[in-house]
Amino acid sequence: MNTALVEIVELSADDVRAAAGELAQLLLDAHASNMSLGLPGPLSLEHAVETWIETAAKLDPQNRVLLAAVDGGDVVGTVQVVRAESENGRARAEIVRLAVRADRRGSGLGRRLLEAAVERARRLDLRLLWLTTHADTDSDRFYETAGWTRLGVLPAYSTRPDGTLAGAALFYREV
Ligand SMILES: CC(C)(COP(=O)(O)OP(=O)(O)OC[C@H]1O[C@@H](n2cnc3c(N)ncnc32)[C@H](O)[C@@H]1OP(=O)(O)O)[C@@H](O)C(=O)NCCC(=O)NCCS
Repeated sequence: MNTALVEIVELSADDVRAAAGELAQLLLDAHASNMSLGLPGPLSLEHAVETWIETAAKLDPQNRVLLAAVDGGDVVGTVQVVRAESENGRARAEIVRLAVRADRRGSGLGRRLLEAAVERARRLDLRLLWLTTHADTDSDRFYETAGWTRLGVLPAYSTRPDGTLAGAALFYREV
């Protein structure tokens, strides 16, 4: 597969609504890997689609942006940059819902999406990016190999799709 042909693009709210089904598949694939991306299991297609419709309504080019990896018109990965709302925290943002379609993992798309999110964060004049992910998972190792700083583990942070309460690894990167 030639991943160089995959484009990383910023989606508008209308784009997200139009691609909600494909984006939902990314969440279902994540759940199949026991990665929650902020949603409890069991996750239905309907709930996954609703989640993206709600996300679309929150997008704002200055404060919350969604990037997608698009291959021949198909969305095969996504990530969001979400600026903090607190009045004194406008220089920081959280990276949320990084996901690559299951059949496209391991070919560099996750890394490209993460780098594109960092680049977009620079253009938003952000200085600090942070994220959490279930501890001791492939994703935990992915962020370490991507060069993010792992601060430690927050215990009992969130529930995984299989129902277990799990700790989260806390990462940051200055931009
Ligand atoms: C985590 C995820 C986004 C990574 O995307 P991906 O496209 O599979 O990852 P890439 O192919 O870009 O891998 C990038 C690097 O991470 C490394 N990596 C990937 N999976 C890894 C693993 N399981 N263990 C260690 N390193 C790993 C790769 O070796 C690669 O390093 P390299 O460039 O030095 O060779 C993807 O697996 C995914 O969507 N998982 C389910 C959802 C999820 O966990 N999201 C994150 C929640 S916060």
